[in-house]
Amino acid sequence: MKSIFLAPSLLSADFADLKSAIEMVNESEADMFHLDIMDGVFVPNISFGFPIISAIKKNTRKPLDVHLMIVEPEKYIEKCEKAGAYNLTIHIEACIHLHRTIQIIKELGMTAGVAINPHTPVSMLEDILPYIDLVCLMSVNPGFGGQKFIEGSIKKVEQLRGLIQKKNLNVKIEVDGGVNFGNAQALADAGADILVTGNTIFSSNDPASVIKELKKIRLKV
Ligand code: DX5
Ligand code: ZN
Repeated sequence: MKSIFLAPSLLSADFADLKSAIEMVNESEADMFHLDIMDGVFVPNISFGFPIISAIKKNTRKPLDVHLMIVEPEKYIEKCEKAGAYNLTIHIEACIHLHRTIQIIKELGMTAGVAINPHTPVSMLEDILPYIDLVCLMSVNPGFGGQKFIEGSIKKVEQLRGLIQKKNLNVKIEVDGGVNFGNAQALADAGADILVTGNTIFSSNDPASVIKELKKIRLKV
């Protein structure tokens, strides 16, 4: 059995000492960096942008999993690719021409993800699933790190796993928000492949050992 993929979210790192956070993740068993880009319009917060993505890219070989919480994401796809994104995730609620935008992401050589907010049903993904590599299931309302996990998200992971299996697709399920030791195993058992973890890792005195412990969780499939 493979272990769960882990994507530490830098949003909860100490921005005055990003280099240490990057080095800690580099030396850990984490599988990628999760980078949260916010525009103050789609979500009520602003985080960081392309110079930070590029700076992280220069300092790591781990893939960059870029999560765009912005309106009109189609305007920034090329910039994300140039900055070094490996996977680019856009929100279903923020994108009118979702299929077209996914095509552009793939044409530029990135893998493509679609994120859904807690109020958006999994069934909304039915028609886009064959075209994407990843679904980012938001288990908090996007915009901030350190929020409380919404319990109903475990059921959504199960539903999504069922939908992916029914269609015989190879789409990864990523869960983002409020992931901790109390829910990580249940999420893996429900069918999650990737756990995004910000606060649980970076609020710890020993972030590397938190990563090590979380990596002990095995994938269901
Ligand atoms: C929330 C972001 C998350 C967040 C996760 O809007 O998309 O990636 O950083 O952080 P925690 O694990 O602290 O909820
Ligand atoms: Zn995120």
